[in-house]
Parts: sequence; C-alpha cells; structure tokens
Amino acid sequence: MENLIALVNRLQRACTALGDHGEESSLPTLWDALPSIAVVGGQSSGKSSVLESIVGKDFLPRGSGIVTRRPLVLQLHRIDEGREYAEFGHLPRKKYTDFAAVVKEIADETDRETGRSKQISAVPIYLSIYSPNVVNLTLIDLPGLTKVAVGESSPSNGQSESIVMDIENMVRSYIEKPNCIILAVSPANQDLATSDAIKISREVDPKGERTFGVLTKIDLMDKGTDAVDILEGRAYKLQFPWIGVVNRSQADINRKVDMIAARRRERDYFSETPEYNHLAQRMGSEHLGKVLSRIKAYKTKHLEAVIKSRIPSLQSLINKTIIDLETELSRLGRPIATDAGGKLYMIMEICRVFDGIFKEHLDGVRPGGDKI
Ligand code: GDP
Ligand code: NA
Ligand code: MG
Repeated sequence: MENLIALVNRLQRACTALGDHGEESSLPTLWDALPSIAVVGGQSSGKSSVLESIVGKDFLPRGSGIVTRRPLVLQLHRIDEGREYAEFGHLPRKKYTDFAAVVKEIADETDRETGRSKQISAVPIYLSIYSPNVVNLTLIDLPGLTKVAVGESSPSNGQSESIVMDIENMVRSYIEKPNCIILAVSPANQDLATSDAIKISREVDPKGERTFGVLTKIDLMDKGTDAVDILEGRAYKLQFPWIGVVNRSQADINRKVDMIAARRRERDYFSETPEYNHLAQRMGSEHLGKVLSRIKAYKTKHLEAVIKSRIPSLQSLINKTIIDLETELSRLGRPIATDAGGKLYMIMEICRVFDGIFKEHLDGVRPGGDKI
C-alpha cells in the first residue's frame, strides 16, 4: 500500500511537472481517496495540538481563537534516512528544514487566500513532511466549528449569517468520505452534551465505525471533577474506546516546552493521577498514534487487495489510452513523446480510474470488525 501512496505522489509530481497545478484536476479527489484522518471539534478544543502530538512535531499554528482558517492536508511520508524536511503543494520546489518557517508559511498562505479579513476559506493547504520519524499518514486539520460568528465578520460585510454554516459544510465535506477516520475532539472542561465534534461526527458516521472520541484539556477540569465517566464510555458510548490526552497549555507554548517533555509529562499525568491510573495504558497521544496506525494499516491492506485485483484491467486501460493517443497524434502528425498535453491526459485518465476504484470499494471497508 505504501507503494500506492508513492504512486499517488508520483502522479501528483508528474502533473505538476506537466503544468497542472491542481485547482481543476482530479488529483485532489485522488488524494482524498486515500485513507485519511481528520480532526473535528469546536474552536480551541485542541485539534491542532492533537494533530501535532500524533506527529510528534511542532509545525502547526495554535492558539486561542480561530487560528486554523483553511483546511490543512498534511501528508506524512516515512523516509529511510536523511534529514527531515517539509514541502508545500503551492511551493513544490522549496524544501523546508526549519519547522518554524513552516508554521509561518502556513499562516502567511492562509492570509494570502483569505486576505487580512481573517475569514475562513475552504481551499486546502497541502503540506508534506518527509521524515524517518513518521508513519505514512494523511492528516487533515480543519477550522473549528462555531455556534456564533466570530472574528471580524459582521453583518455589514454579509459574512456573519453564513459563516457558521460555511464552516460546518466544509468540515462535513471532509469527514463524510467513508475512508476518513474522524478524531472527534471535545474539551473535558466543557459539557460533552454540547460537543460540536460529537454532533457532526454522529451525523456522518451514525454507527461510530470510524469515529474516535478524543478528550482534551483533562488537566483543566474543575477541582473535584474528573473524566472517568467519559473515558470509560458511560457518559457517551462510542464504538471505540475514548482516548484522553493532555496537550500543552498556552503557557507551555509561550515557554516553548518541547514535544518530548510534553509527552513525558502527559504520560506521568495519567499514571500518577489516582483517578486515571487504571486507564493509563490506553490514554495519551502516543497511544492515540498507535491506534491510528493500526486502523490505517487495516484499511490500507483492504484497499491494496482491491487495487491488486484491478491491476490487469488498469493496465489494459493504460495501453488503450496510449494506443488512442498515438492514433490521435499520428493523425495530427505529432510525436507523442513531446506532447505534454497527451501525457497529462493519460495521467488524468489513470487518476480517474484509481479514483473510481477507491470510491467503489471504500464503502466496504469497515474497521468495526477489527480489533483495535
Ligand atoms: P484548535 O483551535 O482546536 O486547533 O485548538 P489549539 O490546538 O490551537 O489549542 C487551543 C488552545 O488550547 C491552545 O492555547 C492550547 O495550548 C490549549 N490546549 C489544547 N489542548 C490542551 C490541553 O490538553 N491542556 C491544556 N492545558 N491546554 C490545551
Ligand atoms: Na485555536
Ligand atoms: Mg487549530
């Protein structure tokens, strides 16, 4: 399956090289068809923090208020050796080794699309990270759900009415894909009954077959209260067990507490707090990461089998496309090898076929029966 991801990336590069920059192409759908993991939840519930700790790297803008204003499609690629680096879809030839510069470029690229109005945009930012320390995964960071219009939107610019629905529709368009694993992020210091994450994920995944409940900010609960009822599945039952996490606070971020220290502290928090000690084995960001790579392996294995069984027909389609193209081009009196448009056409055709295979079969992929 990692070969498939590599193939998708090669196709992406080929298309870029041939002058296709994505907006109207079928490639975004092809990328979306690969198993992915998206974080949903209310504003400042800790979505970006959860994603970062899964990756084990500081690279996302975080903070109070709406920080994430465009979807970020993050592709992690494991490399065997070498220095880790990042690359943006909109800057294909630039390698970033300084992750502080990545954080800045995400913020700048967000502003370029949305202007200084601090509005929300549905146009995703594509970011790839190549590292020996990641597993191959596609993660999606999404703007937070809101109940009321926020930021600088106001009735005078006509945004406030629709922005709440716009965000909701954007989030839904990502998480309704059957191959999208949903991390429904709810903060422990707010009433679970009002959780936006639970509400929207139940809507697109009513049986909870691909939804993981992630409870953040356990450290911020009122004294004398705890999250045991939620974490043990009594307050709100999900098919998969709830996973509690303790991310870095804003003060930690300001003090630049690093990821390794944060993870150690999180581990200690669960094992040393008497209420959670009995649950410590299945709490925390590291555990969440392991669960996700297991479910992803399960999904990709199924997909790989399907694709393998389709390779012969895919090959004949490729051959047919080549023959058609050669016929067409010889009619026009041009050699195929120099015809970028023809190559692009062929690549797009292959993409469409892959996309069709994905769509047709992903509905059948059900993690529910698998041991997680
Ligand atoms: P997002 O808006 O959902 O992406 O949330 P962020 O990840 O940007 O986090 C919002 C704020 O909450 C930041 O200041 C984080 O430091 C803080 N935060 C997130 N998770 C936790 C947590 O588990 N504990 C504490 N104390 N703070 C957290
Ligand atoms: Na935020
Ligand atoms: Mg965020």
